[in-house]
Amino acid sequence: MRRAPDPARIETERLVLRPLERADAPAVEREVSRVEIARMMAIPHPYPSGAASRWIAQTEPGRDFAIVLRQSSEVIGAITITRNEQHRRASLGYWCAVSCWGRGYMTEAVRAIIEYGFLQLGLNRVHADCYADNAASRRVLEKSGMTLEGCLRQHSFRLGRCVDKLQFGILRSEWPR
Ligand SMILES: CC(C)(COP(=O)(O)OP(=O)(O)OC[C@H]1O[C@@H](n2cnc3c(N)ncnc32)[C@H](O)[C@@H]1OP(=O)(O)O)[C@@H](O)C(=O)NCCC(=O)NCCS
Repeated sequence: MRRAPDPARIETERLVLRPLERADAPAVEREVSRVEIARMMAIPHPYPSGAASRWIAQTEPGRDFAIVLRQSSEVIGAITITRNEQHRRASLGYWCAVSCWGRGYMTEAVRAIIEYGFLQLGLNRVHADCYADNAASRRVLEKSGMTLEGCLRQHSFRLGRCVDKLQFGILRSEWPR
C-alpha cells in the first residue's frame, strides 16, 4: 500500500521542513542561546536550560517546522506558521543557525511555507514582522515576495529602548510573484 504524503513535511531543493522532534532539542538550544539570534527575537537571553525541550513539546506538526539540510540531516533552524482561521491569514516566525547565514536557506524556507500556506492551508494572507534594524530578515521577506505594509513605531521594548517594528505581507492574489 502506498503511504499518503505527510502534510507536515515540505521538501525544497536543499531543505526538508519537518515536525520538531525531542532529539532536536540540543541543536535548537545551542543556536537560540546565541545573542545574535536572541536579540532579533522575543526570546529570553540567556536562554534557560531545558527551554528548548519544553518548547519542542508544545510544537505542532503543520505549524512548527524544523529546517533540516537535505544533504546532512542537520537541523539549521525553525519556522512557525501561526494560523488565524477566522481571517484566513497566518503569521511567520523563524531563525537560522548563525553558521548558515547568507546562503539563502531562510528565503528558501519562507517561500516554501508561503506556498504551503496558500495551497495547503487555503490562506488568503501571510504576514511577518521584524525589528526595523533586522536587515537580514527584511531582505528575506522582500526576496520572498512580501510587501512592506507599515511601521509600528516604537512598538517593542528591546535591549533597554523602544524600537520600531516593520510589518510585511503577501496576499494569495499576489502569489506567485
Ligand atoms: C533573518 C535570518 C533568519 C536570515 O537567514 P538567512 O538564511 O541568512 O537568510 P538568507 O540567506 O535567505 O537571506 C539573507 C539576506 O539578508 C542579507 N543581509 C544579511 N545581513 C545584512 C545586513 N546587515 N544588511 C543588509 N543585508 C543583509 C543577505 O545578504 C541576504 O540577502 P541577498 O541574498 O540579497 O544577499 C537570520 O539572519 C537569523 O536567524 N537571524 C536571527 C533571528 C531572526 O532575525 N529571526 C527573524 C525574526 S523577524
